[in-house]
Amino acid sequence: MNYNKMTVTDADFKGKKVLLRCDFNVPQDKATGEITSDKRIVAALPTIRYLLEQGAAVIACSHLGKPKGTWKESLTLAPVAKRLSELLGMEVIFAKDIIGEDAKAKAAALQPGQLMLLENLRFDAREEKNDPEFAKELASMAEVFVSDAFGTVHRAHASTAGVAAFLPAYSGMLVEKELSIMGKALDDPKRPFVAILGGAKVSSKIGVINNLLEKADTIIIGGGMSYTFMKAQGFEVGNSLLETDWLDYSLEMIQKAKDKGVKLLLPVDTVVGKEFDADTERRIVDSDKMPADWEGMDIGPKTIELFSEAVKDAGTVVWNGPMGVFEFPAFAVGTEAMAKALAASEAVTIVGGGDSAAAVEKLGYADKMTHISTGGGASLEFLEGKELPGVACLLNK
Ligand code: 3PG
Repeated sequence: MNYNKMTVTDADFKGKKVLLRCDFNVPQDKATGEITSDKRIVAALPTIRYLLEQGAAVIACSHLGKPKGTWKESLTLAPVAKRLSELLGMEVIFAKDIIGEDAKAKAAALQPGQLMLLENLRFDAREEKNDPEFAKELASMAEVFVSDAFGTVHRAHASTAGVAAFLPAYSGMLVEKELSIMGKALDDPKRPFVAILGGAKVSSKIGVINNLLEKADTIIIGGGMSYTFMKAQGFEVGNSLLETDWLDYSLEMIQKAKDKGVKLLLPVDTVVGKEFDADTERRIVDSDKMPADWEGMDIGPKTIELFSEAVKDAGTVVWNGPMGVFEFPAFAVGTEAMAKALAASEAVTIVGGGDSAAAVEKLGYADKMTHISTGGGASLEFLEGKELPGVACLLNK
C-alpha cells in the first residue's frame, strides 16, 4: 500500500475553492445534544487554518452518526459549525443542505479566507453508497479535494473516495500525520516493538494479529479476547467472553508466534466477577484456575507487572483495546495500569482510537503519548495493513 501521498503543503491553493472532508463525527450528550469531546474538531484545525491562510475558500463537510439517509434534526452539524467558529474565532457559514440550493449558493459566493460547512453528508443515502452522481455534485462546488478525515478513510463513500474521481485529491495535515506516525511504527519501528491488543473479540482483531505477527517483537493480549486464547489452551474460563469459532485460530496464532520468535504474552492472573455488574463480588485468581461460574473482567496484578515490564524497555508500543471492563471502575485497574505504563515509557507510544484512547484521556495521560489516533475503525484497518480507500484515491507524490 502506497502511503506516499500529495499533501496540502505540496500545492498552491491560493484563490481555490477546496472541498475539505473532515471527521466531525463527535460524541454528543444524548439528552442535550451538547458535544462531549471536541477532539476531532480540534484535530482538523491545522489544515483548516493552513488553507485559509493560503487564501483558499474552504467548503468543509463531514458525517455525524448514522442517520442512514434520512434527515434527523438530532444529527445536524449545526453544533459543530458553532464549536468550529468558537475555536477559530471566525464566522463559519453553515449550509442548510448538502448539495442543494443553499449549499450551492453559499459555495458559489464563498470568498478566499472564508469557511463554510455543509450539512451532515449521511442525511443523503447516496453518500454511503458512493454514488457517482452525488460525488460529482459535491465536487462541482470546488476545484480541489482535501481529505483530512482520518477516522473515515477506511470507508469508500462519496465524500471520502468518490469525489477524487472529479477533483485533484490531496491529504490534509491530520491524515498525513496519522499515516506517517503509524506507518513508521509498522514499517521501521524502533525496537523492541510491542503491540498491546485488547477489547472484547478475537474476531475483530484477526487481521491485526496476523499483520503484527510479521512485524512486532512482542504481542500482548488482554481484555475479553484473551479468554478465547485461554480456553484454546484447555483452561476453564467460566462465564467469560468466549468465541468458540476462534479457538483453533487462537492455537494457530500461539504456534505461529513460537515459530516466528515473537513473544506472545497472555494474562497470568485474572480479576473475576460473580456477575456482569459494576459492584459485583470479585476475586483475583490465576488464569488457569478460573471458577466455572464466575466471569473474567480484568487482568490481575501479576499480569499488570508482566505487561508493564514488557512496555518498560520497548522502543515502540502500539495499543488498541482495553484490558478489561473499564467502564466499571472496579474493573478498570488493568486498563489504567497499561495507560500509566505507556505514559512512563520512553518508547514511541501510539494509542488507537476508541476505548484505549478514552482511557488515556480520562486519566490525563494524553500529552504523555507520542500519538493518539483520531480513528477507531480506521486505525485498526491501518494496523491490519489493509488498503484504505480514502487514502488510495489521493494523488501520489
Ligand atoms: C468513526 O467514528 O470511527 C468514524 O467517524 C467513522 O464512522 P462510521 O463507523 O459510522 O463510518
